[in-house]
Parts: sequence; structure tokens; C-alpha cells
Amino acid sequence: MAALIVGIALAVTSLLWLGWNLTLDALWQPTDRVTVRRILLLGGVGPNDHVVDLGCGDGRIVVAAARDFGARATGIEIDPCRVVWARAAVLLAGVRGRARIRHGNMYAHDLSDASVVVLFLSATSNFKLQETLRAQLAPGARVVSYYHPIWGWEPDLIGEARDGYPIYVYCMAGAA
Ligand SMILES: C[S@@+](CC[C@H](N)C(=O)[O-])C[C@H]1O[C@@H](n2cnc3c(N)ncnc32)[C@H](O)[C@@H]1O
Repeated sequence: MAALIVGIALAVTSLLWLGWNLTLDALWQPTDRVTVRRILLLGGVGPNDHVVDLGCGDGRIVVAAARDFGARATGIEIDPCRVVWARAAVLLAGVRGRARIRHGNMYAHDLSDASVVVLFLSATSNFKLQETLRAQLAPGARVVSYYHPIWGWEPDLIGEARDGYPIYVYCMAGAA
């Protein structure tokens, strides 16, 4: 009987979690490792950068930015399960000094400290984020968006992901 109750509770929790995920502007879909590297290369990421991955999922872009490119990296994720997962990935990769995962809503996150912002979200998310990106990012900062363009923005560069989809790079105006 106890096992049945636990089973039902787990099933209901999973259904609620899945249902809640469907209300998000961007569903979870991890970027493959080759494309993660291309995104960071196209963004010109280096040790002086602060990379922010909005909707960081399991933290793979944050980990790669800190471990392979020597950057400071922050991931923002709204799903508490993926936050735990991403924090574990940061810990296991040994990059806790340079990388952190924050639980929260990316639309409310202050981006003024970021020099590279990574997006793998949706057309809706990119549309909602554009004013914040424009208002908060310093001249010379880069926005790298896998798959979805930012409508109305002219990309400075378009790369190709492993699956052939575009990676759009936008440099904020005013760069020296
Ligand atoms: C397509 S996945 C990308 C994951 C990761 N950046 C990658 O490339 O592997 C989108 C992620 O955004 C998260 N997300 C959706 N809406 C969000 C919000 N408002 N604030 C923070 N994260 C959000 C989802 O939970 C999901 O993990």
C-alpha cells in the first residue's frame, strides 16, 4: 500500500513538473558538445569574459566556458531539477571558482556584468529579451544565439552548428 501511494505521488509530481515545463517559453533541449564549442569560439570567449547562459539547462555551456576557455561563467535556470544537475556538473568539472548556477527567471536577471550572453531558447524568448540585452549590455559585448535569430537585429556573423542550424552572433554597438 505504501509503495502504491509513493508511486502515485511520484507520478503526479512528474506530471505536474512536465505540465509546468510546457508553460515555459523554451523547453529543455541540450546543445550537443561540438556546437557548445562552436558557440563559444564564435563568441570569441576568453579568460577576460563573463559568459552568461540564459536558460542553462544541465550547465554544459557554463562548464565548457569556464573549463575550456578560462572564462567566468554564470548559468540562469528556472527549473529546480536542472539547477541541481547543473550545479553537480560544475562541481564535478572542478570549475566552482569560475562558474556558478543561479536558480531564477532569466527575464529578471541583470546582464550588465556579462560580456557574452548565450541563448538557445525560442523566438518568443529572444523577442522578450531584446530590450534587456540592448539596455544592459556594454558596447563590445556579444550575444550568441543558437538556432533562433533575434528578429530585427542584423547578425555580425552567422556560424553553423553541428546539425547545420545557424548560430547567430551579434556584437553590441559602440565597440572600439
Ligand atoms: C533549449 S534549453 C537550453 C539549455 C542549455 N542552454 C543548452 O544549450 O544546453 C532551454 C532552457 O531554458 C530554460 N528556461 C526556460 N524559460 C526560462 C526562464 N524564464 N528563466 C530561466 N530559464 C528558463 C529551460 O528550463 C531549459 O533548460
